Amino acid sequence: MEIIILPTAEEASEVAARLVARQVRENPRSVVGLATGSTPCRLYQSLARKHTSEGLDFSGVTSFNLDEYVGLAPEHPASYHRFMEENLFCHVNIPRERIHIPDGLAGDIPAHCAAYEQAILEAGGIDLQILGLGSDGHLGFNEPGSSLASRTRIKTLTERTRSDNARFFTAGEQVPHHVITMGLGTIMESRMCLLLAFGKGKADAVAATVEGPVTANVPGSLLQFHPRTKVLLDAEAASALARTDYYQWVYQNKPVWQSDL
Ligand code: GLP
Repeated sequence: MEIIILPTAEEASEVAARLVARQVRENPRSVVGLATGSTPCRLYQSLARKHTSEGLDFSGVTSFNLDEYVGLAPEHPASYHRFMEENLFCHVNIPRERIHIPDGLAGDIPAHCAAYEQAILEAGGIDLQILGLGSDGHLGFNEPGSSLASRTRIKTLTERTRSDNARFFTAGEQVPHHVITMGLGTIMESRMCLLLAFGKGKADAVAATVEGPVTANVPGSLLQFHPRTKVLLDAEAASALARTDYYQWVYQNKPVWQSDL
């Protein structure tokens, strides 16, 4: 894991956007894994700006989203279909037919999940997976206790995640209990992962993910086994880490040949 700590979420998101842009420029037919939640919003805004002002071209890109709520139609305001449409897809030029998001209304969920895995395989696997981190350490919607080898499947949310995500639903509306999410095994097959976490509320989950033992109780910690993961943090999210000085020294003193930003 490479730990990159910047003072603000804006700066960390800009670095993330440069990494995604570099991936797309180097391989215009890149397959990218996309995340939802408040964390990647600034990254998506920056990608939209790069598309408009720098001509960053997504016309060859294929995308796979991590997850979706079961029972929500694509047009529901809290659905991840709608989130992606509003925050990224309507601002860039990823061809519609190459956008993939789990279908929360799928009639046969196991068959839909198997087809989603197959589609990732047929696309050649995910080159770069963007990830946020739940306050309980979840990745996608892989809650604590998820099998470390899991594939795309239905999961039941914890009450903590339902309450964390209640802000995206209108007052009185129920946050669904069930979701479809890529598995931890699916995420681990991505060639590169970019994990973003911002704010004090993520500090404990970040410390457990980066410096704790690898355990299904903290799904993010599995990334310690991933050969190419960059963790982009603001100062608050990094505040419970023990080796902050070391991570900062490493980042500020990268040999030129190793610098990728
Ligand atoms: C949600 C999403 C995750 C996201 C996480 C953090 O439940 N399923 O993919 O990373 O929670 O959300 P936020 O970025 O809003 O803190």
